[in-house]
Order: sequence, then structure tokens, then C-alpha cells
Amino acid sequence: MAGSNSQFETKVIHAGETSDAATGAVMPPIVTSTTFEWEALGQPREHIYTRSSNPTRDALERCVAELESGVRALAYASGQAASAGILDLLDAGSHVIAPLDFYGGTRRLFDQVRRRVGALDFTWVDMTDPAAVAAAIRPKTKLVWIETPTNPLLKVTDIAAIVAIARQHKVLTCVDNTFATPCLQRPLELGADIVMHSATKYFGGHSDVLGGINVVADAELGRQLHLLRSASGGVLGPFDSYLVLRGIKTLALRMERHCSNALAIAQHLEKHPRVARVYYPGLPAHPQHALAKRQMGSFGGIVCFEIRGDAAAVGGFLNRLQVFTVAESLGAVESLAGQPATMSHSSVPTDERRKMGIAENLIRLSVGIEGLQDLLADLDQALLTP
Ligand SMILES: Cc1ncc(COP(=O)(O)O)c(C=O)c1O
Repeated sequence: MAGSNSQFETKVIHAGETSDAATGAVMPPIVTSTTFEWEALGQPREHIYTRSSNPTRDALERCVAELESGVRALAYASGQAASAGILDLLDAGSHVIAPLDFYGGTRRLFDQVRRRVGALDFTWVDMTDPAAVAAAIRPKTKLVWIETPTNPLLKVTDIAAIVAIARQHKVLTCVDNTFATPCLQRPLELGADIVMHSATKYFGGHSDVLGGINVVADAELGRQLHLLRSASGGVLGPFDSYLVLRGIKTLALRMERHCSNALAIAQHLEKHPRVARVYYPGLPAHPQHALAKRQMGSFGGIVCFEIRGDAAAVGGFLNRLQVFTVAESLGAVESLAGQPATMSHSSVPTDERRKMGIAENLIRLSVGIEGLQDLLADLDQALLTP
């Protein structure tokens, strides 16, 4: 068993006591049953129906709750389903403050779905400026949505500062912790109410499972989210729960390599003549570098840069890559590269995207755990370094 004082590397292996008490199996069984026999009428057992709870999903949820220092975690069919589950907490007419630059799919859910069918109102704010968040709060504001570091521009938000402002107004705070993972940053310890994850990324870690997880610091909030998830039904299935739990066992080890490779690549690109600008919180030139150093254990595995030249330069670079794969998504063992404007953020209208600061020549790298020299050589040959 991992105590609360254990090292994170120990916790990822043992958190949640996920071994099977009945058989001694070190990994929990994948319980595929959708329904569970009652002892007698009026006497259900611990599990009733898999949409409400399932032993394999419970094992994952116990593990992630402990890793994030929360009291309860809830696993969903995707990161988007987890985000939708949080918005389900809000009554019609509620106002939400969200970042100017964040994952395009979350913005689409907020702007194109919940504004229309949920009667929610959203204001996009530069979250690197806590005063801007304070100024955006209205009587109907119920939630501040933080993503830090942001996708794709890697802006860093001062979680504790925003929490302090939100609390004064009895407003909930949620942090999308997908990029940092609890290995690098634990928002509930900084006072946030909810942590949200796309488990598809670093938790799963192998590009083979889609999932989402919310973690809360308060049991009543957990009860409400559970009720809403049972009602709407977007749960994570038992096979997928198992895969995410399996991935988490190596999270600490993988994050170490993701972070060291990413820092070395960011430093290399910063000096490269074909690179106009590098975005990485681990570089002293990053505007929130000091905050990132204070708030995060390390700086993560995502590096973005603007290549000198036009769309053809972007296409040429991406098409020449051989070790990096051109694909959507991030956070897995293999290195991926993409153009946010036409890939991860294509659902954001062009003028909005430009306002967010996402230029056509921006390239996002999800740095994997391959050998560093191979990755640097691949970038150099694709950048046409003589
Ligand atoms: C920061 C962030 N949040 C949420 C999501 C959505 O997660 P999913 O694709 O699992 O629905 C993504 C997906 O790329 C993401 O990058």
C-alpha cells in the first residue's frame, strides 16, 4: 500500500490498492458483467449496474483519486465526456470563465454545444492575468475553467491565485490537468475544486485507449457528478478502465523521459535558424517560466514552435519527418507532430483561432520517450539543416 507520504513513483504503482483481494491477483480483473445479482429483494450488493459502478472502473478511480489528492474520481468515455459532466453541474443561465487559448475541442463543446443547448454563457479570458479573471466575474459566474499549461501555446496559469479570486465569489474552479498530470502538478492541493483529465493522453500513454477522468476534493461534489454521470451514461468501460490503470503504472517513468527529451528539444529549437519562436515553459524566455518552476515539478512533454516561412514550409517540414509521426493527439510513448491550425484546433473558427494566437506556422510536438539523438536528428533533417 502507498501511504500519502510515499513518493509519486511508488504511488503510481500502488495507489488505490487495485490488486484483487479475492484471488491475490496483482492486477484487478476486468469485470465485464453489466449487472450484479442482489442478495435478496431490497438488498443489492456493492455494485448494481455497470453504468453506475463497476469493479474495474472503481479500481482506476481509486487510484487516480489518490494520485490527485482527491476524495473521489469518476471515469468517463473520453476527456470530452468528462468536461461535459462538469458543465452538467451548472444550471441554465450560469456564466463560465474559460481561457482564451485552450484545447479546441473543449472550446467547441462550450461555444457550439453548451451555449446553445445548455443556455450557458462563456467569457474567454487571458488566464495568465489573474486581474482579468477577477474583472470577468459576474453575479451569475459559477465556474472558472483553467487549462495549464494550455494546448497549444503552453501558457501557464497561477492556479492558487485564480482559486483565491474564485473563492471570494463562491465560484467553482476546474483545472484541465491533461498536459501536466499529477506527476508534475496537483491542482486540488492548490485549492481547486475539480481536476479534469483526458486519460487518452499521458494516463493511457500508448495511443490505444480513449478516456476521461474528473477528480474532486469534496465528497458532495463527487456525489453530484456521479449522479449526473449515471443519468447521462458516458462512462468508461471495464476494458478501457483496465488499460488506463495499466498505463498509469509507468506514468512517473514515462513523464521523466517526456520532460527531459522535451526540454532538450526546446533548447535545440530555440537556437535553430529556421525556427522563429519556441513555446516551452521550461525555457527561461517563456513569459511564465518562474511560475512554471514554482507550480510544476517539471515542464511536460509538449513543445510548440513557429517555423520560418509559409504554409508550404509547415507542410514540407511535417512531410519530411521520419521518427515523429504526423497525427492528432499527444501524450503517448511515440513522438507526434502536427499543425494545430488544421488539426487539434481546426474546430475553432479562423478569426477566433488567430485571436487565440495560433498562427498557421505553429507546429506542436508531443515529444515521446524515444532516444533523444534520434529525435534531434529527425527534426534537423526535416528542418533541412545542412
Ligand atoms: C488539454 C485537453 N483536454 C481535453 C481533451 C479531450 O480529450 P479526449 O480526446 O479524450 O476527449 C484533449 C484532447 O486532445 C486535450 O488535449
